[in-house]
Amino acid sequence: MSYIALARKYRPQRFDELLSQEFVTKTLENALKMDRVSHAYLFTGPRGVGKTSAARIFAKAINCLNPDGINPCNECDNCKDIVSGTSLDVIEIDGASNRGVDEIRSLREAVQFIPIKSKFKVYIIDEVHMLTKEAFNALLKTLEEPPKFVIFIFATTESNKVAPTILSRCQRYDFKKIQASVMKDNLIDILNKENIKFEEDALNIIVRRSDGCMRDALSLLDQVIAFTSGTVNIEDTSFLLGSLDTFISQELFESIIKEDVDKVVTLINKITEQGLEYRTLNESLIEHTRNSLFLVLSNTLPIENLTANEKEFYDNLKKFLSHQRLYAIFQIFIKLSQDLKYFDFHKYIFEFAIFKASTISQIIPIDHVANYDINPNAIVKKIEVPIIPIINEDIEDKKKR
Ligand SMILES: Nc1ncnc2c1ncn2[C@@H]1O[C@H](COP(=O)(O)OP(=O)(O)OP(=O)(O)O)[C@@H](O)[C@H]1O
Ligand SMILES: [Mg+2]
Ligand SMILES: [Zn+2]
Repeated sequence: MSYIALARKYRPQRFDELLSQEFVTKTLENALKMDRVSHAYLFTGPRGVGKTSAARIFAKAINCLNPDGINPCNECDNCKDIVSGTSLDVIEIDGASNRGVDEIRSLREAVQFIPIKSKFKVYIIDEVHMLTKEAFNALLKTLEEPPKFVIFIFATTESNKVAPTILSRCQRYDFKKIQASVMKDNLIDILNKENIKFEEDALNIIVRRSDGCMRDALSLLDQVIAFTSGTVNIEDTSFLLGSLDTFISQELFESIIKEDVDKVVTLINKITEQGLEYRTLNESLIEHTRNSLFLVLSNTLPIENLTANEKEFYDNLKKFLSHQRLYAIFQIFIKLSQDLKYFDFHKYIFEFAIFKASTISQIIPIDHVANYDINPNAIVKKIEVPIIPIINEDIEDKKKR
C-alpha cells in the first residue's frame, strides 16, 4: 500500500478529535443540538490549525444518516462520500484558483438545484480572500437569499482581506494556533499508534519549529521518520531541521558573551565555509539574547518545551551574563537584522556586528563586565589621559605674543 502522509491519515474526523479549538467546536455543536444552523460561516485563523477539517466535520454532521450524538458516524454513505471527496452535495472550491466572476456566476446557478442525496448542500470555499472584487459581488447576491438547503463555509487565513459586506453576512469563527503541549501530546499519540520510538527532545524541536501549525508539525515528523530508520532521535532531527544553525548559533553566542574573539573568528570562518544563512543565525542570536535577559532578570527562560541541551546551555552561560551588556548586544543584533535587509555585503556586515558584539565592553563603558573570568584583554582598561604639555606651551606662547 502506498504511504499516506501523517497529516492526511490523522485528519480529525469528529468534533472531539479537533484539538485546541474548543470554542469553535462547542459553538458548532450547540448550533447542531439546537437545530440553529446558519447559512454562512467564516472560519478564519492561521494555516494548518483545522479550518478545512472543521468544515468537513460540520458538513458530515449535518448530512449524516446515522449521527452519533452531534458527531458524524463516518460510516454511512454520506459521510464516506464526504471523507473521500466524492460527495455531490458537499463541494469544495479553492478560492485561489477559481477567483473570477464567471466561476462564481456558475456557482450561483448550481446553488439553486436541490441536493442529490443529502439534506444540505454545503459549499466549502477555501482561501475566500483570493476572490476578485467582482466575484465577491456576485457571491454577495447568493448570500443575500440562499436557498434553504444551502450552507456556505468560507475559510481564510486573512480575514482582513474579506469584504465587510461578506463578513457581515457570516457567523465568524476564529481558529487559534495549536498550543505547544497539545501539539506534542498529539505527536506522541500518533507515534505510539504508528509504533515508532522517539526521544521527547526531538519532538520539542519539531513543536517549536511548527509554531502552532499542526500540519507543519506532522509534515516535519514525516520527514524525520523517513530520514531516521527507527527512532525519532534528537541528533537526526536537529540535523534534518537545519538545527546545525542552532548549534553554531549557540557556540557563537557563548563566545560573544565570553568575549572570546579567537573563537569568534573560527566560528565566522566555519559559518562562511558552510554557507549558513546570516539572517537565520542573527535571528537565533536575538533569541538567545532575549532568553538570557529573562534568565538574568527573572531567573526564568521564556521557552516552551525547553530541551535538555538548551537548559544546559543557558545554565552554563548564566554566570557570564549581565543585563547591561545584553541590552547593548541586543541593539547590535537588531541593527544587523535591518542592515542585512537593506545592504549587500552581507558577510562584512555580519562580521562587523559580531566583532562589535564580542568586544562591546571595550567600546562603551559598561560597569558590569566583571563577574567573569575570561580573556583578560577584554576587560575595559582605564584609559590614562596623558597630560598634554603642548597646550600649556601653547598658552604660554599666546601669553608671550
Ligand atoms: N485542530 C487540529 N487538531 C488535530 N489535527 C489538526 C488540527 N488542525 C490541523 N490538524 C492536522 O493538520 C492537517 C491540516 O489541517 P486543515 O486542513 O484542517 O488546516 P487548515 O486550517 O484548513 O489549513 P489551511 O489554512 O492551510 O487550509 C489535518 O489533516 C490534521 O492532520
Ligand atoms: Mg484549509
Ligand atoms: Zn454518517
